[in-house]
Amino acid sequence: MRLDKLLANMGYGSRKEVKQLLKQKAVTVDGTYVKDAAMQVDPEKQDVSVYGERVVYTEFVYYMMNKPPGVISATEDLRDETVIDLLEPLHQHFQPFPVGRLDKDTEGLLLLTNDGVLAHNLLSPKKHVPKVYYALIEGIVTEADGEAFARGVELDDGYITKPGQLVILKSAQQSEIELTIQEGKFHQVKRMFEAVGKRVTYLKRLSMGNLKLDKDLELGAYRELTSEELASLQNTD
Ligand code: URA
Repeated sequence: MRLDKLLANMGYGSRKEVKQLLKQKAVTVDGTYVKDAAMQVDPEKQDVSVYGERVVYTEFVYYMMNKPPGVISATEDLRDETVIDLLEPLHQHFQPFPVGRLDKDTEGLLLLTNDGVLAHNLLSPKKHVPKVYYALIEGIVTEADGEAFARGVELDDGYITKPGQLVILKSAQQSEIELTIQEGKFHQVKRMFEAVGKRVTYLKRLSMGNLKLDKDLELGAYRELTSEELASLQNTD
C-alpha cells in the first residue's frame, strides 16, 4: 500500500500531516529516509519506522484497562469522562470500544477492542463467560447468602439469576467477598446483594474469562494484551 496511507491508517495523522512527517525526515523504510508519500510499501516485509520506532501494521487492537471510578464505560458521553478519553490519541484512532460495561463507580478489568467478533463471543449469554468481582459489603455476609447465590436469587425486576459462586473473605459489619457470575445484567452484583438485604459499597472486577487484571496496572492505566492473553481469550468458550 502507499506509504502515506499506511501511516494515516496507523494513526500518524491525516495524509497532509503524514506528508509533513515525511518532509521532516521522520520516516525510514528499511533504514533509509523516505520523502515520497506515494512509495509502495509492504508493512509485513519491510521495516517502516517513524522517529526510529517500527510501525507494526495491525487492524485489531486489544487493551486491558484498570478502570478508575468516575468514568463511564462508553465511547462517548456528553457530561462525563469516558474510558475512551483515557486512551492516547494513537490508540483512540483504532476506535476501540469497551467490551461490556462497568458502572461509573466500579473499578477494575475492562477490555477495550475494535474486534467485534471477540466482543460478541465474550458477551454472548450463550457462552457463560465467568466474571469475578471483589466487593466490600455493608452487612454481615453469611454462608446462607452463598447458598442463595448458588441457587439463584430474584432481582428487583423479578429476574432469577443464574447460579453465582460466593467466596467470603471476611464476614463482619463490613464484609469482603469475591463473587463469580456468568451473566451481566445491569448492576447485577449490586442487585444480587440487595436481594439478600445487603449493600455493595465498593466493587472491582478481577477477571473475565481467562483474562485477569494485571496487578501492576494503576487505576486509569491500560496496556495491550500479550499474545498469550489474547490467545486464551479467543479460546474462551
Ligand atoms: N455488577 C454491578 O453491579 N456493577 C458492575 O459494574 C458490574 C457488575
